[in-house]
Amino acid sequence: MKILIIGGGGREHTLAWTLAQDPIKPVLFCAPGNGGTATLGTNLTIEAEDLDAITAWATANRPDLTIIGPEAPLCGGLTDRLQAVGLRVFGPSGAAAQLEGSKIFAKDVMRTAGVPTAEANVFDDPQAALADIRRRGAPIVVKAEGLAAGKGVFVCTTIAEAEQAIHETMIARAFGEAGQRVVIEEFLDGEEASILALVDGEHVVMLASAQDHKRAFNNDAGPNTGGMGTYSPAPCVTDALWPVIRTEVFERTLAELRRRGITYRGVLYAGLMLTARGPKVLEFNCRFGDPETQVVLPRLRTPLLAALEACVDGRLTEQHVDWSPAPCVCVVMASGGYPGSYKKGIPITGIAAAERVPNVTVFHAGTRVAGDRLVTSGGRVLGVTALGSSLPEALDRVYRGTACIQFEGAHFRTDIAARALVRTATPTATK
Ligand code: AMP
Ligand code: GLY
Repeated sequence: MKILIIGGGGREHTLAWTLAQDPIKPVLFCAPGNGGTATLGTNLTIEAEDLDAITAWATANRPDLTIIGPEAPLCGGLTDRLQAVGLRVFGPSGAAAQLEGSKIFAKDVMRTAGVPTAEANVFDDPQAALADIRRRGAPIVVKAEGLAAGKGVFVCTTIAEAEQAIHETMIARAFGEAGQRVVIEEFLDGEEASILALVDGEHVVMLASAQDHKRAFNNDAGPNTGGMGTYSPAPCVTDALWPVIRTEVFERTLAELRRRGITYRGVLYAGLMLTARGPKVLEFNCRFGDPETQVVLPRLRTPLLAALEACVDGRLTEQHVDWSPAPCVCVVMASGGYPGSYKKGIPITGIAAAERVPNVTVFHAGTRVAGDRLVTSGGRVLGVTALGSSLPEALDRVYRGTACIQFEGAHFRTDIAARALVRTATPTATK
């Protein structure tokens, strides 16, 4: 079986690593992949955003399944294009991917469907946006409407900060087209959790919970990033919350999409704030989370490939997923300067030593092979990941792993999962 994976980050290496263990032994191709996927299959020199080149390759080489990792090709309609040439694709259509691609579309779906989320207003005029901010006061959240590589969200504690955010997005256009319109949103307080679900158009199978750490530095200081580390399970997602999230978030959203004539097939990722008044949706993503995937998939005891295929074919059941109770932690090692500008091409050493620590796997994110060396090629470089029989054991292993790895300028957070450690000395959540 031939599988094409689109993307080249930690999520895609984790998908490839999980699929490589499948008894079917699929032959893997990644476009473009990274230094990690190069050891599991063939990297193609095709960028994930180059939809023409991907479509041409897939048309000629006929993969049995294509799995699309990142949001840009999904929102650009790659699924539709590949399906149009008769290929099987895991990932939502361009119309369904608007749940991530357009915050205004997502808000509209949620509002109509009665999905709990922050109160929001939409503006295309900066003066009207500024007036709304001054009327509502701080704290307040400003979001660029379109895709902004995870950087178009400003959580503002003062009116001055919110004014600055409007200036950057709508006037200086720091995010280009994405800042043409903004969503100004009520600030929600609580603990965050990521819940991903496989959706086959009709059935919803929720995956294990995870918590991401979006700020660059310890104690949630510094700028937002794509994600500096994760752990699964997230004990804040208590047993009582699962049915609420299923009904109020996933089922209501999918029913409203169906009403609009849109079938959602693929992963639907709900970024939730667990507020005192129940879970509320911060955002939807139309794909696996990165680095959530790095901690969710190692806990999956049933074959991933069978679940993805069932999803594509519209025959997904709860039997397709079963979870190990072992907690998993991922610590992202980033380039010096990330999420600002950073150097590339810096040699990386120590990965083999890190993987000698029991149950440690190092997922590559921004790496590439240059001659006989592995070098950095992105902001998030590696996701050092460990399973343990307890969260303290997983943490001990993961940080023994990071201690083995060197590249100039490397930085990482040393407080991943600290909240879960405090919450439960003996975590009870298993999913
Ligand atoms: P998003 O990309 O929409 O998930 O936003 C990035 C981060 O900003 C989230 O993970 C939250 O930490 C924060 N955030 C987004 N929206 C809100 C909100 N309405 N209230 C508080 N924090 C938020
Ligand atoms: N980890 C956040 C995301 O994948 O968007």
